[in-house]
Amino acid sequence: MMTSKLRQSGGVIEHYREYLPVRASTPIVSLAEGNTPLVYCSQLSSRVGRGCEVFVKNEGVNPTGSFKDRGMTVAVSKAMEHCAKALICASTGNTSASAAAYAARAGIPCIVVLPAGKIASGKLVQAFAYGARIVAIDGNFDDALRIVRELGDGHRFVIVNSINPDRIAGQKTAAFEIVDVLEDAPDFHLLPVGNAGNITAYWAGYRDYKSHQRSTRLPTMIGFQAAGAAPIFHNRIVEKPETIASAIRIGNPASWKQACAAVAESHGAIDIVSDEEILEAQSWLAKHEGIFVEPASAAAVAGLFKCCESDQAAYSFQNIPEASRIVCTVTGHGLKDPDPITQRMKELKPVAASVTDVRRASGL
Ligand code: F0G
Repeated sequence: MMTSKLRQSGGVIEHYREYLPVRASTPIVSLAEGNTPLVYCSQLSSRVGRGCEVFVKNEGVNPTGSFKDRGMTVAVSKAMEHCAKALICASTGNTSASAAAYAARAGIPCIVVLPAGKIASGKLVQAFAYGARIVAIDGNFDDALRIVRELGDGHRFVIVNSINPDRIAGQKTAAFEIVDVLEDAPDFHLLPVGNAGNITAYWAGYRDYKSHQRSTRLPTMIGFQAAGAAPIFHNRIVEKPETIASAIRIGNPASWKQACAAVAESHGAIDIVSDEEILEAQSWLAKHEGIFVEPASAAAVAGLFKCCESDQAAYSFQNIPEASRIVCTVTGHGLKDPDPITQRMKELKPVAASVTDVRRASGL
């Protein structure tokens, strides 16, 4: 077999090893994650105006379709270094898909604890396909995470939620990639917030890179929660979080304090966007920029519109410097959660298989 001699494309550990908690002896479990496109968006830029440049960091093109893979490669590699026999996580869907894939790659079992009936269909399909042991509970994500924490971890099984610092370490690499492409940090970074691990990771990543003189400045961090699941915005636990953006349907985020520190230190904000604004932004981004993201990811873009266009915004772009560079992270692929869109497909009625009928139906 030639394959072992072929050059394989490396993942985030290979690219950013010196910034990550791995050693020469750590067995690397990777699916060649990371190195995702930072897409310049001309339509978004002109909607923002003031000569600003808007980029979308498209994390939906990671191996399991979300940003979770960056953290998972580090968490699972470290778990293998510590001879873990299994992985466990609570999830709103993407963590479970990613954990299940990396566990399969590592050859160990993965147990996922999920809120019953609340996981987008594409994500649940992934967990089944990768062979996870799936436990659905009558409760929400916060209940699932509480149970996983109470089960505890150790050598027998390792928790791979973002309460595991190796997850956060791996997710910092998205900030590194952005700085590497832009040759400095952007002025603003916008992203959705659920359990608040990702905003924590980005901020840590930007700070690490600056302290290593890889950038000259730090961005202002602006995080968006769904209006019905906005504990950080309201500064209180939400017992029954509700939103169409099921990935961020979280009422008691694990990294709450760290998210507050990131926005305070960067002079940013946490704001809310409604389900309507989320779906509008999802559709707008697909139709104007060709980037199809899941609803939770669209919260960042809905948030950008709010900053520019609403007088209710927690952070107003009215006075931002001209020609600012803005990055929005879109965290997961649109195909993971097709349900809101498949409703519309029911309107599709077949016509006769003739040129005349196709011409008429297509409006040519
Ligand atoms: N976007 C997507 C697509 C997500 O899946 C998540 C979190 C977030 C944003 C929020 O990131 O939690 O770091 O603030 N999903 C977790 C999961 C909770 O279980 O898949 P966060």
